[in-house]
Amino acid sequence: MKVLILGGTGSIGTAVTQELIRHGHDVTGLSRSELSDRKLERMGARPLRGDLRTPGAWAREAARTDGLIQLAATFEDDMAEADTAAVTAILQQAALRPEPLRMIYTGGCWLYGATGSQIADETSPMRPIKPFAWMQKNARLVLASPDISAAVIHPALVYHEDGGAFSRYLAAASEAKPFEIWGSISTRWPLIQREDLARAYRLLLENPDLSGHFNASAQDGVPVAEITREIARRRGHDGGYVVRSLKHVLCKYGSWAEGPTLDQQMGSEKLRRLTGWQPRFSSFHTAQF
Ligand SMILES: NC(=O)c1ccc[n+]([C@@H]2O[C@H](COP(=O)([O-])OP(=O)(O)OC[C@H]3O[C@@H](n4cnc5c(N)ncnc54)[C@H](OP(=O)(O)O)[C@@H]3O)[C@@H](O)[C@H]2O)c1
Repeated sequence: MKVLILGGTGSIGTAVTQELIRHGHDVTGLSRSELSDRKLERMGARPLRGDLRTPGAWAREAARTDGLIQLAATFEDDMAEADTAAVTAILQQAALRPEPLRMIYTGGCWLYGATGSQIADETSPMRPIKPFAWMQKNARLVLASPDISAAVIHPALVYHEDGGAFSRYLAAASEAKPFEIWGSISTRWPLIQREDLARAYRLLLENPDLSGHFNASAQDGVPVAEITREIARRRGHDGGYVVRSLKHVLCKYGSWAEGPTLDQQMGSEKLRRLTGWQPRFSSFHTAQF
C-alpha cells in the first residue's frame, strides 16, 4: 500500500514506519526538519515537508495515498488545534477521492479515564482527561466520515528498549534517586511494547473492512509497584519511592500529568479476535528496557 504517516519520526511512529517498510509498504512520512528527513530516509521512507498546523500542501497527498496514519502530536498548548486542522484537511481531501481513504487515527487509554476494577473495552464509556478530550471529538469526526474507512486505535502506555512509559523510573534508578510515584503505588497501567503496537497499526491498516475503536494492550493493568520493583531489580536500585499527590503533579507538570495517576485496566480482545494480533511481549518482565 502507499501510506502517508504523520508522526512517523516519533516514539511510536518510528516503530510503525519500520514495521510498514519491513512488510513492503511504500511509506511517505510528514517531516518538519532536515533531521526528520534523514531519519525517515534511513528507515526507507520518503519525507514530505509540512506541519500539522498548516496542512494546505501535505494534505493533498491524502487524496492520492491508499492509507494514512495519524500519529503526530505537538504536545504543546495547540495540540488540539493542530490535530483538528490536520483532521479537517484530511476529511476535505478524502471527499475528493473515488473510494474511501483507509485511515488509522490515534487515541489513547487515557480517553477511558480511571476504570478501577473494570477492564475497559471498546464499548466502555469514554471519560477523557481534560487535555486529551479533543481526541475523542476528532475520532468521532473520522469515524463518521463516509469518505474514510477509519479505525481508531487506543494504545496502552507504550514502553520500549529506551524506556518510553518507564523513562521517569529508569532515570531515577540511574541517578540512585527514589522513584517518584504519581498518585498511588497501587495504580494500574495498561501496557504494550512498542513493536507489538506497531504490528497492531499495520494489521488494522491492511484490513480496511475493520472500522471503529480498537484498544491495543498486551497487559490489561500492571500495578506501578510491580513496574518499579522490576526496574529496581534490574538496575540495582533499593526500591525506595516517594508518593506525590495529584494536586502536586498537576501544579508541577501540568494537566497531562493526571494521565499516569489514573488507575486503569484496558483489554484488547477485539483487536486480537478480529486481526489475529498477539503481543510478542505478553509481560513486560520479558522485554528489554
Ligand atoms: N507514548 C504513549 O505511551 C502513548 C500512549 C497512548 C497514546 N499515545 C498517543 O500517540 C501519539 C504519538 O505519541 P508518541 O509518544 O509517539 O509522541 P512523540 O514521540 O512525541 O512523537 C510526536 C510526533 O509528532 C511529530 N510532530 C510534532 N509536532 C508536529 C507538527 N507541528 N507538525 C508535524 N509533526 C509534528 C513529531 O515530529 P518531529 O520528529 O519533527 O518532532 C513526532 O514525529 C500521540 O497522539 C499520543 O498522545 C501515546
